[in-house]
Amino acid sequence: MAKHSVATAKKKWPLMLLAFLSISTVMVIFIRNNSDSCNTKIFEAQQTQIHSSAAAGGGNGGNAASGPSPLDFMKSKLVLMVSHELSLSGGPLLLMELAFLLRGVGSEVVWVTNQYPAEHDQVIYSLESKMLDRGVQVMPAKGEKAVDTALKADLVILNTAVAGKWLDAVLKEKVTLVLPKVLWWIHEMRGHYFKVEYVKHLPFVAGAMIDSHTTAEYWTNRTRERLGIKMPETYVVHLGNSKELMEVAEDSVAKRVLREHVRESLGVRNDDLLFAIINSVSRGKGQDLFLRAFHESLQLIQEKKLQLPALHAIVVGSDMNAQTKFEMELRKFVTEKKIQDRVHFVNKTLAVAPYLASIDVLVQNSQARGECFGRITIEAMAFRLPVLGTAAGGTVEIVVNGTTGLLHPANKVGVTPLAHNIVKLATHVEKRLTMGKKGYERVKERFLEHHMSQRIAVVLKEVLQKAKHS
Ligand SMILES: *[C@@H]1O[C@H](CO)[C@@H](O)[C@H](O)[C@H]1NC(C)=O
Ligand SMILES: *[C@@H]1O[C@H](CO)[C@@H](O)[C@H](O)[C@H]1NC(C)=O
Ligand SMILES: *[C@@H]1O[C@H](CO)[C@@H](O)[C@H](O)[C@H]1NC(C)=O
Repeated sequence: MAKHSVATAKKKWPLMLLAFLSISTVMVIFIRNNSDSCNTKIFEAQQTQIHSSAAAGGGNGGNAASGPSPLDFMKSKLVLMVSHELSLSGGPLLLMELAFLLRGVGSEVVWVTNQYPAEHDQVIYSLESKMLDRGVQVMPAKGEKAVDTALKADLVILNTAVAGKWLDAVLKEKVTLVLPKVLWWIHEMRGHYFKVEYVKHLPFVAGAMIDSHTTAEYWTNRTRERLGIKMPETYVVHLGNSKELMEVAEDSVAKRVLREHVRESLGVRNDDLLFAIINSVSRGKGQDLFLRAFHESLQLIQEKKLQLPALHAIVVGSDMNAQTKFEMELRKFVTEKKIQDRVHFVNKTLAVAPYLASIDVLVQNSQARGECFGRITIEAMAFRLPVLGTAAGGTVEIVVNGTTGLLHPANKVGVTPLAHNIVKLATHVEKRLTMGKKGYERVKERFLEHHMSQRIAVVLKEVLQKAKHS
């Protein structure tokens, strides 16, 4: 791979990157700062095209409209989507993706946002414009029109547990008429969602759709033990990578360009080994424990006198304003251990593809119950990266231990095992590359958009059946 023309490349790189991203796609990664576990606080990677040429189906993604889709039976069905909020966070973006998939097969889709800020919000404005461009109708969450639509709809999709607040607030006494056609999509397992106020209607809806088996099991346990309620029919639907992400991941020229330029901007050499954690920086995501493990791995390499390329740790998802104390703690650790030249902090960013194209290993170090699903994991695998992940949450359903990556325990006990795994992948080049390849194959087998569509189609069919017979 090229190591030449560093000076000219340096000037060109932001431009090229921009150009590259604007013609293909923009990966929106969302980052929130709450300090708990699943979904919302996560730097959950979502792919969405945020500019209108791509949104209009242009470019080489234009084949999307052709060919049968497993969702074709949804043609001309009226679907009401209830989002608890509208932002660049995992939950709403995922629901938007589904809205576009359904629009693609000719469903009539109406979108309401339950929590709406009082003042003008640029993000909401642009997301709504994007939906309108794609023929999604956007209407106020409250009022007669919303109630009428709910009554008329073939299907109502509530997104996240918090959206449950909308049911009583808006439908009032008509709620029982709507419940039999509600599909409740849940992407979280944080304790404070287990409130009767949010989920009291859960047992009476047509179905619940959850992103991983672990999360589904957790919901079954918690609703029974804490709230004394029973889950409805529950479907586990693993997510899939968008076509746009796969296009970048499978474009070796684009990947090489991105790799060279990102590495140069970080000041690392082409053959250095990059281990990256790509998540909003917060204790729950385990950047602190990752850096400790990274430091231990450097010590191991020194002790064993291993001859290896230089190892680097990349922390993508920094936000000094949001998690100041934790961020300071990470930097203090790096200074104390004198590993400044080996650790790189990258601000939270909308584009993950350049980083995935540039690194050698993804570290998924989410703590406690882990990720609900963890979309960055399948995105990294699409880029043929092995994953070092905590044996928790959705990660264990994605990463095959020993085949597509290596798992280590969550929490402090996982630090040393992770350090050993880092050394293992640094030492065994062949193993690292094979794991990456196996990860890519696994993505191609089960974590693509059309797999997700198939899985969702099965659920929607059943829910429509039930709604009809109720
Ligand atoms: C659910 O409860 C069962 C039995 O109490 C337990 O074995 C299992 O680990 C729990 N699962 C989760 C995800 O909490
Ligand atoms: C990263 O964010 C901080 C503030 O949050 C800002 O001061 C800094 O300039 C940013 N760095 C880059 C490279 O954009
Ligand atoms: C992963 O596999 C390794 C051996 O390849 C094993 O030592 C470790 O316990 C496994 N971890 C989990 C969580 O299964």
